[in-house]
Amino acid sequence: MALVSAKEMLEKARDGKYAVGQFNINNLEWTKSILQTAQELNSPVILGVSEGAGKYMTGFKTVTAMVKAMIEEMNITVPVALHLDHGSYEGCYKCIEAGFSSIMFDGSHFPIEENVAKTKELVEVCAKKGLSLEAEVGSIGGEEDGVVGLGECADPDECKKIADLGVTILAAGIGNIHGKYPANWQGLRFDVLEAIKKKTGDTPLVLHGGTGIPTDMIKKAISLGVAKINVNTECQLAFQEATRKYIEEGKDLAGKGFDPRKLLAPGAQAIKDTVKEKMEIFGSIGKA
Ligand code: 13P
Repeated sequence: MALVSAKEMLEKARDGKYAVGQFNINNLEWTKSILQTAQELNSPVILGVSEGAGKYMTGFKTVTAMVKAMIEEMNITVPVALHLDHGSYEGCYKCIEAGFSSIMFDGSHFPIEENVAKTKELVEVCAKKGLSLEAEVGSIGGEEDGVVGLGECADPDECKKIADLGVTILAAGIGNIHGKYPANWQGLRFDVLEAIKKKTGDTPLVLHGGTGIPTDMIKKAISLGVAKINVNTECQLAFQEATRKYIEEGKDLAGKGFDPRKLLAPGAQAIKDTVKEKMEIFGSIGKA
């Protein structure tokens, strides 16, 4: 199957009250593990590529060529979207040119007017090419009654301004953060999520920072309109732990070093296990 826009899979997820996972890729092993798992579990999937990971893989054209070829060689039939994660304005155009099927423009650090103007332009470009576009809305400090919370929250009115531009999906802070959550994290702000949902209507919402959010909170977020959940750190941690164990066991080729394919295999399996666990929680298994 060719790469697809994330629009249809995410509208189905929104209506069916489950979420599609975005798993970030960094190399061939990561990509292979995620594609294999999605196919085995008959789940749609989104492959996220940060600008740093794109650079590491020598450029977005290499990424597109690799993913397209793997879909063909591995006989992947489930829907796969190749998505730029937290794209800059210039990065979006590079990925559109390179053949990505989905783009995230992260204009959250711009003043809202500039975010609106740039997002509007990209909505039009992506619509013409049949690509999905994710936008992000600037955050307001998580301060309430003088207490600074952990993880920031978006302003629902700003969310509406961006959603009304016709973006495919909208990422908005609800107390979520990238990486591991600190011990004193207060949890997701469902009141903010409900307020955003009320203002943004049918636009499927995205939850970034999917690593380490308790299952009950994930399920509640899905019930309130989240249709896409991003996971990166958890795959990295699983890969690191499995690789460390393998090296400690010392199974090298009798002084010739480690066989690179064997060295990376436990980490690749750990990514598969992590993706499977997430797809179970998100409810996307069997939804391809
Ligand atoms: P985590 O690294 O916390 O899983 O977040 C990933 C993410 O949101 C990528 O955009």
